[in-house]
This record gives sequence, C-alpha cells and structure tokens, in this order.
Amino acid sequence: MQARSEGLRRQGKTIVFVPTMGFLHAGHAALLQEGRALGDDLVLSIFVNPTQFGPTEDFEAYPRDMERDLALAAQAGVDAVFTPDRSELYGNDYETYVQLEKLPQHLCGLSRPTHFRGVATVVTKLFHIVKPHIAVFGQKDYQQLAVIRRMVRDLNFDIEIRGLATVREADGLAMSSRNTYLSPAQRQRAVCLYQALTNAAEMVKNGERSAATVMAAARNLISAQAEARIDYISICHPDSLEEMENIAGPALMALAVFFGKTRLIDNMILKPEKGAG
Ligand code: PAJ
Repeated sequence: MQARSEGLRRQGKTIVFVPTMGFLHAGHAALLQEGRALGDDLVLSIFVNPTQFGPTEDFEAYPRDMERDLALAAQAGVDAVFTPDRSELYGNDYETYVQLEKLPQHLCGLSRPTHFRGVATVVTKLFHIVKPHIAVFGQKDYQQLAVIRRMVRDLNFDIEIRGLATVREADGLAMSSRNTYLSPAQRQRAVCLYQALTNAAEMVKNGERSAATVMAAARNLISAQAEARIDYISICHPDSLEEMENIAGPALMALAVFFGKTRLIDNMILKPEKGAG
C-alpha cells in the first residue's frame, strides 16, 4: 500500500482517502462520491479497529459484509480498497498510541474513555500507510472529526481534512452501520434523536437561549419513547466541546441514546438568529 501510494505521488497524482469500518451505507457512499471528485486516486479502507472498542462493547458483533462492501466500492469508483488484518496493524508487542488531552474529555469520550485514543491511533497508522493528500470524514461523528482535525493540526500531518454533512434515512434517522441492530419497533422510535435535534434548532431559532431549557425539551421528547435510555445530551462549543449555558452563537447539540444494547449518536449545529433573543 505504501509503495503504491509512493508511486502515485511521484507521478504527481492526488490521493484521496476514506477510512471506514465497513458495512457500507449511503453515508459512506456520499463520502466516496465527494472523495472521487477531489482527486485522482480514491482509496477506501475497511478495518474494524479493535482499539476503539471498549471491553464490553460490540467489537465482535460489529456487522461485517466484505463482499457487499467491495461491490459498493466498485460502484463508487474506488481505485483501491485497503483491508488489513488485525495482526498486520497490531502485532503482539504493539505499544504505541496517539492520545489527545482535552477533546476526548467530553460527549462520547466520557462514556467511552479509550475510544478516541483508538481512533486517533488507527487513523494515524492508516494515514502513514495510505499517504493521502486529502481525507474525508462525516460530521455524523462530530467529535471524531474534531479529534482528527486537532490531531492533524497538532502533529503537523500534511493532509487536508474534509467534513461532510450527515446522510439520513427518509424519516431523519442518521445512517449508521449500527442501525442494523435495531428491532423494527426500535427502528421506528429511533427517529426521536433527529426530532429532538430539529425541535431544539427550532427553539433556538425562535429565541430560546437557555441550554438547560433546550436540553430539557430534548430529554422529554426522547424519554417518551419506550426502551430509549439517554447516555448524554449536551449543548457545547463547536470547537472546544465545552458545555454552554447560554446559546449566544452557533452551538453544537450532540446526543447519544441507547435502544436496548444499541447506542445511537447524532448531532446538529443550533444557530440563534441574529438579533433575536
Ligand atoms: P465508520 O463508522 O465506518 O464511519 C466511516 C466514516 O463514515 C466516518 O467518517 C463517519 O463519520 C462517516 N459516516 C458514518 N455515517 C455517516 C452518515 N450517516 N453520514 C455521513 N457520514 C457518515 O468512523 C469510523 O468508521 C471509524 O471510527 C474510523 C474513522 C474508520 C476509524 O476506525
């Protein structure tokens, strides 16, 4: 993979990279479509990264379908698919990790304390192997995108990071490989994440400035759904992810909700209308 990329770089080609854990859906396809237009060579990686799963999380159960993924990759015009084995990326004596100090101390990082260390580490490894000029990530995983941007800046990676809007099902549910875990009833109720976010955006647009009030409305809306268990709801600064009390400018609203064992996340930027409130 490194030799291939080195050869392309010598020919002056632009390499675009979309890292994934596979079980591809329309959200991944949108990243690939964007990536296709951004350069000459489009690389997709499929690797379910063990180091970003906690000991009680779904690493073993995570859905996998390589055959279907490769067909989708071909359709999307991918030039190369990188599918390393676990042992190729993490030998028995593996001991080096990339860890951010502050950004993981918010949102998902609180309930998944080693998650972003695993993400930052594997993305660093993949960057060094694929050697892209540009890498494309989804805003669906907002904190992940923030972590990658910060890491790239802090460690001087010579890579441009692009963030893409969340792709949703017709009813608004954010596409996710984990949606496949949901029972039909849970799947219907899961739209409450999106409804809570759009309702919050509407409240803020209409002049509500208290984060506590907006979060309480979201909490009520989600708690009304059978089986829904809120992991967190947060309104925070879009760059630092520090909690906000008063919504004076654009704010990130992020949430994580369990349906049974399935943990779903979503987020939206809340924008107060200028002059209102
Ligand atoms: P995965 O969950 O497979 O997601 C791969 C990429 O697709 C991420 O950048 C993610 O934000 C994006 N994505 C997922 N659902 C999306 C949606 N509905 N709309 C738009 N983009 C979406 O994120 C990971 O894998 C891993 O953590 C990884 C970065 C590959 C490191 O292991």
